[in-house]
Amino acid sequence: MSAPYDVLLRGAEVYDGLGSPPVQADIAFAGDRIAALGSLDAARATLDIDATGLSVAPGFIDAHTHDDLAALNQPDMGFKLLGGVTTCVVGNCGFGAAPFKEAMQLFDGLTPGLSVPHYDGHAGYAATVETVRPGVNIAALAGHGTLRLAAMGTADRQPEERELQHMKDALGEALDAGVFGLSSGLIYVPGRYSQTSELIELASDMRDSGALYATHMRDEGDGLLASVAEAIDIGEQAQVPVQISHHKASGRANWGRVTESLKLIELAQARGLDVHCDQYPYTAGSTILVAIIENGAFTGSAQGGIGTVGADDVVIAGAPGHPQWEGRTVAALAAEFGIPARAAALRVVEHAPGTTAIIHMMSEDDVQQVLRHPSTMIGSDGIPTVGGRPHLRLYNSFARVLGHYSRDLGVLSMADAIYRMTGFTANKFGLNGRGRIEIGAFADAVVFDAETLIDQGTFENPNRYPAGIVDVFVNGVASVRAGVSQTARAGRMLRRPGT
Ligand code: ZN
Ligand code: CU
Repeated sequence: MSAPYDVLLRGAEVYDGLGSPPVQADIAFAGDRIAALGSLDAARATLDIDATGLSVAPGFIDAHTHDDLAALNQPDMGFKLLGGVTTCVVGNCGFGAAPFKEAMQLFDGLTPGLSVPHYDGHAGYAATVETVRPGVNIAALAGHGTLRLAAMGTADRQPEERELQHMKDALGEALDAGVFGLSSGLIYVPGRYSQTSELIELASDMRDSGALYATHMRDEGDGLLASVAEAIDIGEQAQVPVQISHHKASGRANWGRVTESLKLIELAQARGLDVHCDQYPYTAGSTILVAIIENGAFTGSAQGGIGTVGADDVVIAGAPGHPQWEGRTVAALAAEFGIPARAAALRVVEHAPGTTAIIHMMSEDDVQQVLRHPSTMIGSDGIPTVGGRPHLRLYNSFARVLGHYSRDLGVLSMADAIYRMTGFTANKFGLNGRGRIEIGAFADAVVFDAETLIDQGTFENPNRYPAGIVDVFVNGVASVRAGVSQTARAGRMLRRPGT
């Protein structure tokens, strides 16, 4: 008799993560790998789980997160694991983990109560993740905003030659350290001051490296189509793959325009370009309040990147030191303060600079259209202000796609929906050996109840985990059992193939 396996999951409906319909099978883990699949009646294991009536999928890969420092600061990462996530792509929207000093500045609002040991560069960040061992795997992007802040502060101009070289050197360090690409955040300071040519110049340094360009575009409102064209242009000129982050049409005047933006993506793909997008499954977004102000909200004129958004549409999510403002709209605060909306928002930011807000700015039809489109992966874009009033997407994005949009509304099949959060994402980012249930793959897996799986919580009371996530394995280690985090801390720092 052969040696027992470490883990056996018996009798579940197994999704391979590549879009195939589920099959009933047993799965065995040995160490950190999937060792056997099929009918394993005679096999034995240290941890033997009867998963009859349940489903198994590869652990979900969150294509878009801001968990760079949460991974160090709240390393259990229960807020991700309990939603079935086993890998987080961090460093999005231009906010990267290095250089250290600038990262601390930019992450102030994204990770409250920040206290992180000093590290040098992306190599230092990777080493720190390995020392700390968070609960999920981490795949990092370098952030253009962080690089630019370090090279030239918040100057609103093109970089000088030596400043550009400073950014290129830092990007080179990050690529050597194994990052999977470069992200930009073109509505934020300082990324918004960059021109297309600067981004092409930087992205060109990633040519042939396998790294991609991910972008929070300049304008998801009135300038949506020009922004998609810019993202594609950067990828085409630099000859690197492109990932359009949290794809949407923002502001009522722009609803329906995702039909055209998705068409632009299709046309680029037809020209042979590697262009895709990701999405969180809600009609509300969330970001730092200062960026909402800077992008022309509350003025009635959409000069910025989020379209026209009213003071009624913006709700304070986390206001460090001022919990009395959390959950209230900017309109309500303006009435209370007896001043105009923009002035009220400015007052909030002055007292609580890291304030985050939820913005109700999308249409349900658009959300479903983007979700249905074969170019779309799932990324939560969750801001880990755990304990405040974070957007529900932080915990619930994957359960909502599977339970609400797939099972209940039939927007896409379960196998397809799972593919968009596992195999598809692993292929796009180059997360080798992840995102699939097959022999030899890493044993990242989620066991769920397909009948009860659903997102929970409300915007008023958001700190709720989804229902129906039963067990979660990270690198073969049981990290959630029967819906309870095991604080196993089995995540790893992932590196781009070849580094
Ligand atoms: Zn973003
Ligand atoms: Cu983001």
